[in-house]
Amino acid sequence: MNKHLIAPSVLAADFGNLQRDLEMINQSDADWFHIDIMDGVFVPNISFGMPVLKEIKRHASKTLDVHLMIVNPDQYIEKFAELGADILTVHYEACTHLHRTIQAIKAAGMKAGVALNPHTNIDTLKDTIKDIDLVCLMSVNPGFGGQSFIENTYNKVKDLKSLIVSKSSDCKIEIDGGVTNQNAEKLVNCGADVLVAGSYVFKSKKPLETISKLKSLNF
Ligand code: DX5
Ligand code: ZN
Repeated sequence: MNKHLIAPSVLAADFGNLQRDLEMINQSDADWFHIDIMDGVFVPNISFGMPVLKEIKRHASKTLDVHLMIVNPDQYIEKFAELGADILTVHYEACTHLHRTIQAIKAAGMKAGVALNPHTNIDTLKDTIKDIDLVCLMSVNPGFGGQSFIENTYNKVKDLKSLIVSKSSDCKIEIDGGVTNQNAEKLVNCGADVLVAGSYVFKSKKPLETISKLKSLNF
């Protein structure tokens, strides 16, 4: 039995038919909704913001996994809690006082996630890993859906898994970017707990089937 979770990325949905696409995920074998918030400063793209998240919350019946690709995430923690985020992930590279930010996310009643860009070393989380609920390893440079998976991610998953085990942390490992049938199984075998998939799900002919296959790893 595979215990890994699947989190389709709403960024790749058809925004003209957002409710339809959210319902599809509700009906699917997916576990979470992955929601990318981009500010045009931390990353060279702007996705969507609070009003859209409010509507996603209204229609989505699963865990909301919110990935903030923004500078100064601290100032919006309360707001995202009010909007219904279950997990709030901030970027390591955007937080000067990461420990304080993690504590603030938890104090607001959410699980705390930390995302690492492809260039950021796992060791940097040595002193915080026990406080973190989720590490999101970026397997592409953040900012856009539909990019190619960076192969070095496998090494990072293994390193992160060792760190988590050595510190007896309960932290989950999430992989974000370029996830497909070509890498899903290997990622899970290396220690990944959550696979985010945007284009691979929404650009496929049968998204429900694609999600089931990612969940069962039966391609
Ligand atoms: C990239 C985002 C990802 C993206 C994944 O900056 O954080 O969540 O939506 O999309 P795919 O699966 O198409 O790479
Ligand atoms: Zn993301």
